[in-house]
Amino acid sequence: MAQARGYRLNLLTEIAWWTLYLSPPMRAPWMKTALSKEARSESFPGRLREYLLELTDAGARRPRVLDVGCGPLSPLAWGVDAGLLDLTAVDPLAHVYRFLLGAYRLDFPVMPIRCAAERLLDRFAPQSFDAVYSRNALDHVEDADLCIANICALLTKKGRFFFDGITREGTRQKWRGLHKHDFYVSDGRLMWCGEDGEAIDFSARHRLALVYQNQTSFRTGEWFRLEFERRAP
Ligand SMILES: C[S@@+](CC[C@H](N)C(=O)[O-])C[C@H]1O[C@@H](n2cnc3c(N)ncnc32)[C@H](O)[C@@H]1O
Repeated sequence: MAQARGYRLNLLTEIAWWTLYLSPPMRAPWMKTALSKEARSESFPGRLREYLLELTDAGARRPRVLDVGCGPLSPLAWGVDAGLLDLTAVDPLAHVYRFLLGAYRLDFPVMPIRCAAERLLDRFAPQSFDAVYSRNALDHVEDADLCIANICALLTKKGRFFFDGITREGTRQKWRGLHKHDFYVSDGRLMWCGEDGEAIDFSARHRLALVYQNQTSFRTGEWFRLEFERRAP
């Protein structure tokens, strides 16, 4: 399930992409929204917001959230502005993103920490987070199975995993670059598939129970928004 070859080389394409598209003339509208303190509340994931508000009502401490593969502009920045969460944002290219944010003089409230999802347990203790969020990143990793196992290990017993991405992104991108993983949901189960076509039920493998899905069709290229909790062993 690990990418066979070229993962490190393919990370260069990610660096090139962000270097180009964070530059002022190329900056996409969603990036401008992310960079605006006034506008970015709109793009904060709604289900995560509801869940954090529930936790805040119920508990004494601020909920701890991990953004995996956060990129330079974590989609969770508004939660930091609003004091809604205690955010840790990780990405293997965090050092590059910190450089780019400085070079483009971008003021952003989230400074990513360098860590690949495969190495999360080297850095964080099990059951450290009330929620783990990941957007459009787990299809870019080297070993998706290990990344999901690590994410599960980091959740508190009642913790939630919020997973946003593009359906069958590996297929859509013709398995080029970092895109070596297909994700989709079938019969309420999170499915993973690699280029060789072997499909694996990640819900069964990682005890992930689906509590929300934004759509039912899961056609290639469609955005999915998923939310999971862990079943008891
Ligand atoms: C398309 S970007 C998405 C960034 C951000 N989540 C967003 O939605 O703007 C994919 C991200 O996955 C990161 N990535 C690549 N390999 C990874 C790994 N092994 N673990 C975690 N993130 C990884 C890349 O560095 C990149 O920042």
